[in-house]
Amino acid sequence: MSVALVTGASTGIGEATAIRLAREPATELVLVARRGEKLRELADSLPCRATCVAADLTDADAPARIRRHLEDEHAGRLDLLVNNAGAAWRGSFAEGGYANVQRHMELNFDAVVRLTEALLPLLRKAAPSAIVNVASTAGRVSRARTGAYSASKFALIGWSDSLYAEEAPHGVHVGLVLPGFVRTEGFPATELREKALTRWIVSKPATVAEAIHECGPGRKPERYVPRPYALAAHARILFPSLTRRILSGGAASSLTTSTRGDQAGSSDTG
Ligand SMILES: NC(=O)c1ccc[n+]([C@@H]2O[C@H](COP(=O)([O-])OP(=O)(O)OC[C@H]3O[C@@H](n4cnc5c(N)ncnc54)[C@H](OP(=O)(O)O)[C@@H]3O)[C@@H](O)[C@H]2O)c1
Repeated sequence: MSVALVTGASTGIGEATAIRLAREPATELVLVARRGEKLRELADSLPCRATCVAADLTDADAPARIRRHLEDEHAGRLDLLVNNAGAAWRGSFAEGGYANVQRHMELNFDAVVRLTEALLPLLRKAAPSAIVNVASTAGRVSRARTGAYSASKFALIGWSDSLYAEEAPHGVHVGLVLPGFVRTEGFPATELREKALTRWIVSKPATVAEAIHECGPGRKPERYVPRPYALAAHARILFPSLTRRILSGGAASSLTTSTRGDQAGSSDTG
């Protein structure tokens, strides 16, 4: 029996990942997000045992609560941790200031680090085991009005690379998934889907879920989704001036799509 925990499992990429992992034989799932009723609905629809923890991952006691749940419900076993929960609120630095950077870091970086710290002993005990961190292509290339989101994903990538090297000798694989535009509740990509010219660059949560499977149980170190998005990351390193010029131009503004966080106002995430 192997136990996999997915954060942000109530919608989007996390939900698709839970559905993908549930197809593996002898798997138990732990689903984490704030909306418990959505998690329970998903758990009831899966073909394997799935338990739920309704938690805000930015709460100080969330990591300890989740660890206690694993000990009480899954005999303290954890083979795969998928750090997927995340959100974005668009805006320039002049508009959002430090407060916007802080809320991105709290959810997209600090919460991942804190949960991983609490669960690493269980992962080491279950080795060979794996962690998959869901970053973003925005963690390699930054656009206007996404600086706070990009900063949190750049941080996640830097930390993940180090953790990969540190945990390899302990049998804990660390995989990194970098999606591009994916249509989800939090990132509807409406602006891109409305135009025939850009519709094709938006992919589906199930495609990312497959990459998460490859980078977790499949032990790949890194996957862009879809793969050609890697070109943007390479261009940023190989042709920095050209990339900067393109991303500062008017056409690039259409690549900054609005998110659920923007629509819900400053108090919500998504
Ligand atoms: N979709 C894209 O275009 C795209 C591209 C690159 C990277 N990503 C990354 O992929 C990951 C998943 O995003 P998604 O597109 O699937 O978005 P989504 O549909 O909005 O899903 C986000 C998930 O995170 C959970 N969540 C948000 N805030 C939380 C909190 N404070 N505590 C606990 N759970 C929280 C949400 O559940 P509740 O609201 O129920 O808490 C939801 O299950 C994120 O890390 C995102 O940055 C997405």
